[in-house]
Amino acid sequence: MRKILKNALVINPVNGEILLRDLYIADGRIAAEFTGAADEVIDCTGLYVAPGLVDIHAHFRDPGFTHKETLETGAAAARAGGFTAVVCMANTKPVIDTPELLTAQIDASRALAVNCYHAGCATTGQNGAELTDFAALKRAGAAVISDDGQAITDAAVMLKVLEAARDNGLVISTHSEDPRFPGRPAVAEEYMVARDLALAEYAAGAKLHIQHVTTAKSVALIRAAKLRGLDVSAETCPHYLQLTNDGGQSTLRKVFPPLRTSEDVAAVIAGLADGTIDIIATDHAPHSAEEKALPYPEAPGGMEGLETAFSVCLTRLYHAGHLTLPELIRKMSYNPAERLGLAHGGVEAGDTADLLIFDPDELWTPTASDLKSKSRNNPFLGTELRGKVKRTLVAGR
Ligand code: DOR
Ligand code: ZN
Repeated sequence: MRKILKNALVINPVNGEILLRDLYIADGRIAAEFTGAADEVIDCTGLYVAPGLVDIHAHFRDPGFTHKETLETGAAAARAGGFTAVVCMANTKPVIDTPELLTAQIDASRALAVNCYHAGCATTGQNGAELTDFAALKRAGAAVISDDGQAITDAAVMLKVLEAARDNGLVISTHSEDPRFPGRPAVAEEYMVARDLALAEYAAGAKLHIQHVTTAKSVALIRAAKLRGLDVSAETCPHYLQLTNDGGQSTLRKVFPPLRTSEDVAAVIAGLADGTIDIIATDHAPHSAEEKALPYPEAPGGMEGLETAFSVCLTRLYHAGHLTLPELIRKMSYNPAERLGLAHGGVEAGDTADLLIFDPDELWTPTASDLKSKSRNNPFLGTELRGKVKRTLVAGR
């Protein structure tokens, strides 16, 4: 199967270049120019082409909560949002804490609309106490180790997790936020970010990834740790770039960590701009309408978001002048892929033709019918966004 993307503005997030060119695809890979007929010519005049987005933090709820999302609907949502690879978190039912369960997940993910990778739990049953078998999870194909959804509150256990991850060549991705603090104030995140950075420094050589960073102090702590040379990466999520905690107590806005102040939002954006935060992930967390209709204290936290993530980021980061297009694409493709050692995020000849075609200027207002997810708990429905995914190619298809 040979294709040509004609007249595309091709974004290379690795060298930061944007070149107007024709992009050739042969046998699922980006190819050098070929002569002779193509099976399909896609006119990309006026459109940008970038590596497909890579989301290293999504919840597909399968097995166990398939009324919220399945591997199939999650992958369809990803694809609609321009993502060509996702890493699914392990807080399913059962949680993915053995090599057998992980192997079953990987086997069930072979024919999905996008590449789906899977995390393995850090602790058995996500109980925050006994470590899983990291070596066996690595052999089975764990993309990362994470108890996301649960924080590891015992610092001695967290230290063991960091050391075991290091010894097995795995990144540990943490939900650094203590759930025991009433109201989950900023300090519940900040002290645990500080703790995890200190423990990672002590476990010399550990690779720490801090999920969903939301506060100014967290950003400052990570910035200082990077200056000291720690092997730490950090992500934030689209909702922390746009929404604040003064929007009222709607369950649609309930998420962990919670929405913060406008000063925190500004600091998170500054952290993206100066490289402290290297990755944008969605934390796509679908929940059913029935659960989100519960009274605020009982409703689950989390926001659906794969289909709107890129448009929110274009609106809040590119159009607002904080990041260039190559910088934004890098934080949503090359950097996350590189951090976990996934072969995605490039547009060079020989790379898999996982590609996103988009119009950075198209205005649209997402509605429920734009969602491919099983769930509808997306806070951006009804909000006008600037920039839209036009087409997503996975291995050239
Ligand atoms: O709001 C959240 N929802 N935060 C998490 O850490 C987990 C996620 C979920 O699984 O619903
Ligand atoms: Zn989390």
